[in-house]
Amino acid sequence: MGPRRPRRKDEIILLTTLQEVLKIAEDTGTAIPAFNIDNLEGPEALVEAGEAENCPLILTVGQGAINAGQLWYLADIVKRLASQTKIPLVLHLDHGVSYEQTVLCLRAGFTSVMYDGSHHPFEENVRESQAVVRSAHAVGVSVECELGAISGVEDGISHKNVNLVDLQEVEQFIAVVDCDALAVGIGNAHGMYQGTPNLDFDRLAACRALGTPPLVLHGGSGTPDDMIRKAIQLGIRKVNVATELRMAFMEGLEATVGQRDFYGMYRQAKTNMYELARKKIRLFQGK
Ligand code: 13P
Repeated sequence: MGPRRPRRKDEIILLTTLQEVLKIAEDTGTAIPAFNIDNLEGPEALVEAGEAENCPLILTVGQGAINAGQLWYLADIVKRLASQTKIPLVLHLDHGVSYEQTVLCLRAGFTSVMYDGSHHPFEENVRESQAVVRSAHAVGVSVECELGAISGVEDGISHKNVNLVDLQEVEQFIAVVDCDALAVGIGNAHGMYQGTPNLDFDRLAACRALGTPPLVLHGGSGTPDDMIRKAIQLGIRKVNVATELRMAFMEGLEATVGQRDFYGMYRQAKTNMYELARKKIRLFQGK
């Protein structure tokens, strides 16, 4: 991508950009975890897990959280956590629905925005993605785009069919859209899989061979470990996980609700999420 606006001297920048952490992933042949956040306790547990594994994290605000009115609160929480931790933290918008929403996130201090135009006609996806890249890059913020709409239901956005990314579209897209990361549909889906996912690894390898920016695997929940390892080996540099983390958290609440210990419930929920996050981080780091 092009030159960046130099940081102003009085700007205290505690957050890291997606571009910076993906560089680490490229250099080490690993993937950076992108964990969705929805409340205060989740990001606290996730950052503790990242610290325990000494791994950068992408904390992701999705449409469900935004629809619940959490955008600004979650941005503040992540900034606060970034001021207290040594691990690099990226504040990222997941599946941005419009140019306007990505601009709102620039104002809220996000260091990375995803614009998901994959369900629009290709030309419109290109045009809108270009506009997002232009605005975000002007203020040093990274951009993730998407091709081949990922199936399943993510925060109320549903794609019923498994959409495999079209290689010709990938080639055309990366020639004109200077994004920092590209999410591709290779048979992956949001939510828990019923049975084993059928991931098209040949297509993933072919995407990478076209010289794409670092590739992103959405729908990380329930994907068998060996498939995750293979995807990373073939060029996936960011893996998104939401559903499994939320389930772990909720199971912690369920297991302890009868004790009628308010803080005890959240402790258990956080412990569950922390342990699962550490497991995922180790997997993505090839440990
Ligand atoms: P899962 O809910 O399947 O983990 O997917 C998360 C995701 O891809 C967020 O964009």
